[in-house]
Amino acid sequence: MAKVELKGVAKSFGAVRVLDPIDLCVEPGEFVAFVGPSGSGKSTLLRMIAGLESVSEGDVLIGGEEVTFAEPSERGTAMVFQSYALYPHMNVYDNIAFNLRLAKRPKSEIDAQVREAARTLRLEDLLERSPAQLSGGQRQRVAIGRAIVRHPKVFLFDEPLSNLDAALRVQMRLEIARLHREIGATMIYVTHDQVEAMTLADRIVALDDGAIQQTGAPLDLYARPSNRFVAGFIGSPKMNFIPAEVIDGTRAGVGLRLHAGDGTSFGLGALKSAKAGPVSVGVRPEAIRLHIAGGTPPAGTLEIPARVDSVERLGNVTYTYIDVGSDELLTVQSGGDVQLKSGDQALAAIQPESFHVFDAAGKTILSASAAPART
Ligand SMILES: Nc1ncnc2c1ncn2[C@@H]1O[C@H](COP(=O)(O)OP(=O)(O)OP(=O)(O)O)[C@@H](O)[C@H]1O
Ligand SMILES: [Mg+2]
Repeated sequence: MAKVELKGVAKSFGAVRVLDPIDLCVEPGEFVAFVGPSGSGKSTLLRMIAGLESVSEGDVLIGGEEVTFAEPSERGTAMVFQSYALYPHMNVYDNIAFNLRLAKRPKSEIDAQVREAARTLRLEDLLERSPAQLSGGQRQRVAIGRAIVRHPKVFLFDEPLSNLDAALRVQMRLEIARLHREIGATMIYVTHDQVEAMTLADRIVALDDGAIQQTGAPLDLYARPSNRFVAGFIGSPKMNFIPAEVIDGTRAGVGLRLHAGDGTSFGLGALKSAKAGPVSVGVRPEAIRLHIAGGTPPAGTLEIPARVDSVERLGNVTYTYIDVGSDELLTVQSGGDVQLKSGDQALAAIQPESFHVFDAAGKTILSASAAPART
């Protein structure tokens, strides 16, 4: 286990800056996920830690030692790629043993290491097979085995599960979590899949456009996103955004008008900045409840007239897409079946405490204070 420190690490390819200076400290034994959309710079950052990509500015330290210009093999890191990069003509045993043989380790030690890795990864019965005779998940386990036997100070994963089907991804996700619990090594894991990041990581680093947008525990990013990018990226289905306007503000609270329904206006607690003007209001799909007109809503509930666009019933959960006269359809998540159908008129009930508010530049000026509505 080792600490990984990035001090002002930046990257340009020629004149094109792809990563702004990054400061980050990954603690010994910590599991950190780099998450972000395609092209945000995740792989480039990981490859600079591995030494597979040169660093344009700043310093990389592993275990307190400066390795900015060190060869990949001198850094004590092992990388696992999306393409498993196994040797097709070698069996599983030889694939796992390869680096140890290269390092001229004694035969008995190699054998003990390979068998230990095979046990950890449940590959004992597959050691004689060639990669072509393995499933995608088994191949990925062999690739991880090859990393384990090197006893790296830091494991680096670049989208290791992207080639697997959905069921296998879930299974391998659990395997990687178990591996981290068992060997306790420092792990940095790149993914564009926020569910993988949320479920595996102690801490998430959300990247967009070559810059860190937010760093924090998964549920912190979910509950208190620092900007609209993180709010929209973390959480599935994603947060709904409704254009709105600050119409009046005092130190104690503000009035907002939603560009939805019949232009509902309502009051909220004080925003971090309450300048009059356009903002956007974010609301999670599970914080909206749909019902047919009638009955008295609990005090303070906003009710916005909505037309049901479509309904997706998945058994345990239903997604209803509603038109509230805003820019985009809103997604509503509820449990079980929903009696509404396409074309129905309904009311979307929302507690204002569940709103997040973002200024025109996308910065969070209010985080939701209410727990999501239960259905
Ligand atoms: N060798 C290169 N030369 C020039 N530009 C590059 C090179 N490698 C990457 N880039 C650019 O750097 C940016 C970041 O790329 P990177 O591969 O780090 O993204 P990523 O977040 O890993 O994306 P993905 O999810 O698609 O793998 C992209 O705009 C990419 O086009
Ligand atoms: Mg990548």
